[in-house]
Order: sequence, then structure tokens, then C-alpha cells
Amino acid sequence: MNVILLGAPGAGKGTQAVLIAKRIGLAHIASGDLFRQEQASGSELGNIAKSYMEKGQLVPDDVTVKMILGRIAAPDCAKGIMLDGFPRTLEQAKALDEAMSKEGKGIDLVLYIKVSNEELIKRLSRRWICRDCQAPYNIVEVPPKVSGKCDKCNGELYQRADDTEETVRKRLDVYFSQTMPLIEYYSQTGKLTEVDGERSIGEVSEDLIAVIESRIGR
Ligand code: AP5
Ligand code: MG
Repeated sequence: MNVILLGAPGAGKGTQAVLIAKRIGLAHIASGDLFRQEQASGSELGNIAKSYMEKGQLVPDDVTVKMILGRIAAPDCAKGIMLDGFPRTLEQAKALDEAMSKEGKGIDLVLYIKVSNEELIKRLSRRWICRDCQAPYNIVEVPPKVSGKCDKCNGELYQRADDTEETVRKRLDVYFSQTMPLIEYYSQTGKLTEVDGERSIGEVSEDLIAVIESRIGR
């Protein structure tokens, strides 16, 4: 089973992927997390990505596609993948389809988590992330048990540099112009299911799991 989580910045892709991927037995692959890891290691790819991410722009398709195709070729992805934040342009979606079909594989399901703009901006301004395992927290509605520390790995929590109001607005503009066309692209294949993401984290998870399980016949 190969699944894409589609949704705007702040829709809850990372939150849901962490909860669901393990339970269903899929490798969680988050393009933004991979870029942030590259930045933390000081690699050339990390430096390239940083210059785009800090402005709220997309990292160029060729760089992004190369990184993701490399990652999904790893052995842990053979059991199935849950993509979070990729693809984000039609170019990326087509490159993914092409690469997977060469391996006799394909995307089985695209879960579109829909959330209003007002809620997205509110969530991103309240988000803190674990520096070690990348788990996101909403410090107002779902705070960590110990202030400033990750519940899962005790790592330090920090606020992402691209979660400033100006950069969030830019990220949303980019999402509407470059990523929204993917909704039409995947609707046409009959693989897209829309889920209301403006409910509690648990309610959204239950819905997403139900859609996946009905698709795999559990
Ligand atoms: P990326 O890291 O992918 O960020 P994003 O898509 O902008 O999405 P976010 O991670 O901000 O949101 P999310 O949907 O994961 O929400 P979360 O679960 O954290 O990308 C960052 C940058 O990297 C891009 O701008 C670009 O530059 C680059 N990049 C990445 N992928 C790329 C690609 N494919 N091509 C080119 N460039 C790429 O939740 C948000 C907050 O809300 C959290 O605090 C959470 O606790 C809270 N929350 C979640 N669900 C709920 C709920 N139901 N109720 C209340 N609060 C909730
Ligand atoms: Mg995320």
C-alpha cells in the first residue's frame, strides 16, 4: 500500500502520519523533515533547501524528486510508504508515477486533509517541533506533558523558522497555486479521498485509518 497525505501547510499531515504509518505498517517519508535533517547536518543539499524554505518557496523539483526517489528506494519502503509533503507540484507527481511504474508499483490512495485558511494560520503560529524526532505539538491545544520537551523522545522543542506569519502566508499562496492542482490530478484517477481535517486529531485519525483499512480490505 502506497499512500499520499495531501494538504496545506498546517493541515496535520505530519501529525497524522506519525500516528497512522506505524499502525498500518508503512514507512513515513516527509520531504520537509528530510530537508530539515539535511540542513542540520550542514550538507550541500541542506544549504540549497534552506535558501528556499526560509522564504516559504518550494525547493526546485529536480532536487526534491531526486531526494525522494532515493529515499523510497530504501529497503524499509518495500512494505509500503506514506508520503507527507510530497508530491507538491504536477511535475513531482508525474515523476513519482513514472518512477513507481518502472518498479511495477503505484500510488494506491491519496488522502486529502481539508482545513480552512483561518485554522491553518492559527495552528502554525502555535506549533512547536521536536528537534530530534520532528513530532509536532500545538502548544495551546495539545501541549507536551513537560514544557519544552518531546513526549516521545524527550528531545528539545523549537519553533520552525518558516512559521512566522509572513512566511506562512507565502507558503499558503504557494500551496494554492502549485499544489492544489494535484487535487484535480488525483481525483481523475479515482484515488483521492477528502477528509475533514478540522476536527480533533483523534477523529481525523479514525477517519483516515478507516479509509486505508477499507482500501486494503481489513
Ligand atoms: P513541510 O515541512 O512539508 O511543511 P508544510 O507542508 O508546509 O506542512 P507543515 O509541516 O507545516 O504542516 P503539516 O500538515 O505537517 O501539519 P502538522 O501536523 O505539523 O515543508 C516545509 C518546506 O520545505 C516547504 O515550504 C518547502 O520549502 C520545502 N518542501 C517540502 N516538501 C517539498 C516538496 N515536495 N517540494 C518542494 N519543496 C518542499 O500540524 C500543524 C500544527 O497543528 C501542529 O502544531 C499540530 O500539533 C497541530 N494540529 C494538527 N492536527 C490538529 C487538529 N486536528 N486539531 C488541532 N491542532 C492540530
Ligand atoms: Mg509537516
